[in-house]
Amino acid sequence: MAGADMEALTWEPDYYKNQLERSWQELAMLSHLAEMVSLGGDSKETNSIVLKKVVDLMKGNFGYIYLVDKGERTISLASEYFPHAKPLPESATNVVLDEKINRPVHQVILTGKGMIIDNIWEDHALMESLAAYADTIKQFGSSVLAPLRMVNKNIGVICVSAPKERMFHREDILMLEAVGCILGVALYNTGLIDDLRRSKEHLSGALRSLDHIRETERKRVSRELHDGAGQALTSMLLQLKALQEESDVEVIHDRINGLRFLTSNTLEEIRSLTSSLRISNLVKDGLPAALRKMIKEFSRISGINILFEVSENIFPLPEEIDSIAYRIVQEGITNIIRHSKASFAAVKLYYLHIATEFPAQKEVGLEICDNGVGFTLEENKVKGSGIIGIEERVGAINGSFALMPMEKGGTKLSIRLPVQDGQEQGDG
Ligand SMILES: Nc1ncnc2c1ncn2[C@@H]1O[C@H](COP(=O)(O)OP(=O)(O)O)[C@@H](O)[C@H]1O
Ligand SMILES: [Mg+2]
Repeated sequence: MAGADMEALTWEPDYYKNQLERSWQELAMLSHLAEMVSLGGDSKETNSIVLKKVVDLMKGNFGYIYLVDKGERTISLASEYFPHAKPLPESATNVVLDEKINRPVHQVILTGKGMIIDNIWEDHALMESLAAYADTIKQFGSSVLAPLRMVNKNIGVICVSAPKERMFHREDILMLEAVGCILGVALYNTGLIDDLRRSKEHLSGALRSLDHIRETERKRVSRELHDGAGQALTSMLLQLKALQEESDVEVIHDRINGLRFLTSNTLEEIRSLTSSLRISNLVKDGLPAALRKMIKEFSRISGINILFEVSENIFPLPEEIDSIAYRIVQEGITNIIRHSKASFAAVKLYYLHIATEFPAQKEVGLEICDNGVGFTLEENKVKGSGIIGIEERVGAINGSFALMPMEKGGTKLSIRLPVQDGQEQGDG
C-alpha cells in the first residue's frame, strides 16, 4: 500500500498504529479465507461468510456478490449483506450481462480489474432497482468492486459499499482483488467436488445396473435348466425305471422311442440355451471389435480414459479362447472401475506366432493396466471370486496369469493363452 496515500503522510503515531492494526486484520482475514478454501464446503455458505467478513473488516455497511450464470449472458445475485434493511428486491437479483449497459459490475467482470465508485448513485441501474430503499441508500458513499477470478476467467464480482464518511482507496481495491482471487478458487473447487460427486453417483448407478443384468441372466439360466433339462431328466429316469420292469417287447420298443424323442428335445433345448449365453458381439464381430465396443461402453459409464491396442498378425481363435479373453477383460475393467480409483487404463491384445514349423505354436496375450491405487496378490491374500474365476479359466487351458503392481503405481494384469494348432475356428 506504499505510495497510495502520500498525501496522508503524517507523523501522528495513531495513524501508523491504525494502519498496522488494519494490516493485521487484513492478513488475518486472508489467512482465514485461505483456510476456508482448503476446507471446501457449500459455496452459498462460503459466499455469505466471506462477504460479511469483508464488509465488516472494510468498515462498510453494504455488500453483494454477483456470479455470471451458465450461459454467460446474465449475472445473478449470489449473496448480499445489507445489515440494516430488508432483502434486495427481485429486480436487483437477476441482471442481464450486456456490454452496452455500462454498469460498474459489468465493467469489472469484462475487464477483470477492480475499481472504486466514489458515489454508488453513479450505478444508475442498481439505484433504479433499489428505488424502494432510497432512504437507506442515501447513507452510502463510496464503493469498491473486484472480480472473482477463476483460472483466467472472471466468474463474478464482489462489492463493498461504505457510509459517506469512509472513502475507499487503491489499497482497498488490492485487498478486495485478493479476496476475489481466493473466493474464485473456492467456488471453482466446489464446482469440481460437485462434478466428482455427481460422476461417482452415476458410476455406482451403472455398476448396480450391471450387477442387476448379470443377476437376472443367472436366474433365467437356472430357471431354464430346472424347468427344461431338469424335468426332462427326471421324467427319463422314471421311464427308464419302468422300462426295467417291463417284459413286453412291443411296449419296450414304444417306450424307447418315446425316450429317444425326449432326449433329442432336451438336447435341442440345452443347445439353444448355451447359444443364448454366448456373447453376441463376439460371434458377430470377432474378438478385437467386440472388445473395442465393450471398452468404449465401460469408458463412457465410468469416465475413465481407457486405451485399447491390438497387435498385428491377428489369427482366428477357438470360440472358447475368444470368450475367455472377453470375460477376463470384462472382469479386469470392472475391477479397475470398482477398486483402482484410476484416471487412465489401457488394454493390449496381442497375437503371437511363437513357432511356425509344424506343429505351429501360437499364443494370444492380454495386458490390462491402470494408474490407480495398486494391488498385489502377495500383500492382499484375499482373492475375490472375480480373480479366482480368471485363474480357473486360464488354468483350464494351460495359460498363465499374473497380477502385479506397476513401477509408477497402479496394477497390471497379464494373461497368456496358448492356442493349439488346428484348434482355430474357421468361421470366426
Ligand atoms: N485394478 C485394481 N486396482 C486395485 N485393486 C484391485 C484391482 N483389481 C482387484 N483389486 C483388489 O482385489 C480384490 C479382489 O478382486 P476380485 O477377485 O475381482 O473381487 P471383487 O471385485 O468382487 O472384490 C478386490 O476387492 C480389490 O481389493
Ligand atoms: Mg471383481
